[in-house]
Amino acid sequence: MASPSPSPSLSLSLTSSILLSLILISTSSSDHQFELLDLHQPPQLSSPTTHHQPHSPPLSLTLHPRSSLHPPTANYTALTLSRLACDQARVHSLLLRHSLALSATSAPDFSPQELQSPVISGIRLGSGEYFARLGVGRPAKNFYMVLDSGSDVTWLQCRPCAACYNQSDPIFNPSTSSTYRPLPCAAPQCSALDTSACRTNACLYQVSYGDGSYTVGNFATETVSFTSSASVPNVAIGCGHHNEGLFAGAAGLLGLGGGPLSLTSQIKATSFSYCLVNRDSASSSTLDFNSPRPADSVLAPLLANPRVKTYRYIALSGIDVGGRPVNFSPSLLSIGRDGRGGVIIDSGTAVTRLRSEVYGAVRDAFAGMARGLPAAGGFSLFDTCYDLSGMARARVPTVALRFEGGKTVALRPSNFLIPVDEGGKYCFAFAATSGSLSIIGNVQQQGTRVSYDLANKVVGFSPNKC
Ligand SMILES: *[C@@H]1O[C@H](CO)[C@@H](O)[C@H](O)[C@H]1NC(C)=O
Ligand SMILES: *[C@@H]1O[C@H](CO)[C@@H](O)[C@H](O)[C@H]1NC(C)=O
Repeated sequence: MASPSPSPSLSLSLTSSILLSLILISTSSSDHQFELLDLHQPPQLSSPTTHHQPHSPPLSLTLHPRSSLHPPTANYTALTLSRLACDQARVHSLLLRHSLALSATSAPDFSPQELQSPVISGIRLGSGEYFARLGVGRPAKNFYMVLDSGSDVTWLQCRPCAACYNQSDPIFNPSTSSTYRPLPCAAPQCSALDTSACRTNACLYQVSYGDGSYTVGNFATETVSFTSSASVPNVAIGCGHHNEGLFAGAAGLLGLGGGPLSLTSQIKATSFSYCLVNRDSASSSTLDFNSPRPADSVLAPLLANPRVKTYRYIALSGIDVGGRPVNFSPSLLSIGRDGRGGVIIDSGTAVTRLRSEVYGAVRDAFAGMARGLPAAGGFSLFDTCYDLSGMARARVPTVALRFEGGKTVALRPSNFLIPVDEGGKYCFAFAATSGSLSIIGNVQQQGTRVSYDLANKVVGFSPNKC
């Protein structure tokens, strides 16, 4: 349902609507029920520029939105539709991997080899939203890598190519690097792969994405380096000689998941953090490892699901709309004993997905308080949209995420009401998922530095730190 039809008592004349608005304004000052969404800036499609961060910590990479490689097309409606279709594919893949992991019957000691998963993540379509600039080899060459907190294996296209797709950087040639070492089949990194093979004592890896795209090649160790030129030797990465798919011009993928092969695990990072700039902006930000989180971070427990080690789970316990907790059972968001449920935080999913009972309650609370805004029809996966054309700003109900322990992080209006065309249509950027898993997406993370403190098992959210 797009938005609830006004109840009889609210089908008021214009004068009464103004009165109602005045009443809402007068009650809003005390408990942050409403906030202003500035509509002066219509969706901006800007061309890419590069800003170098002046004071990057040693282990830092620049982070660019997709527009750095692909200046977006002029039709914002079409762009939004294609992004949302990609986002659905991404979520489908995450849910599929989740259910595959849970259907493995060898609990409690689930081992990755038992999961012959056809899907590692939906990277091909959905997560090519942000790219990190990673140095590989010695001398180091820099590559745009898709940032993926939902998978582990880091890989890039390698010469000689049996099949390579187009990428914006020259393709990596391991023969020009003095630190490239193929891994033997007996290497522990080789046995940690979900899918591997042995050929003439060389470890081969394969990562498939369930939609026909894949990468296959040598699993090898290499030196990876950061913006500061600091480097880490002997990181196991995939050197892909057969690669197919639309990886959006990136050379490969940077895996930031929780499994042993992720870059964070391999460099023994005690923490990492990123700030995702607005996806339509031309600016860049950073992905930092081992740097202190901002002092003003709101902390949430970082949880582990032993059945799905790759995903980063967070202890979301509720959602506040208009300053009040939406009424649903917190158990709907917790990880069950069987490994089902829970909430992951993902850099590659755009729109936050909530299991349907939770989404329905949150949407109804929002739509109920947003009755003063002119409703518009649904759009793609959004069922709650508004026609804000001609308005300079709109008063919208506040939305905040509430974590176990009671802390809340308030979302900015632009984190939950997003433009879907150039004509002033905005939609409530949450959606329902059919599975038990909920996902905090990057629309809700934009503009916030998200710090994963792996040593202390907390996630910090610090607004306005890009
Ligand atoms: C933009 O794309 C939408 C959806 O594909 C289409 O309906 C619309 O006609 C396009 N607008 C322009 C100006 O091309
Ligand atoms: C790859 O890039 C080349 C050179 O820019 C171009 O000619 C070719 O059509 C591209 N191929 C694909 C599949 O986009």
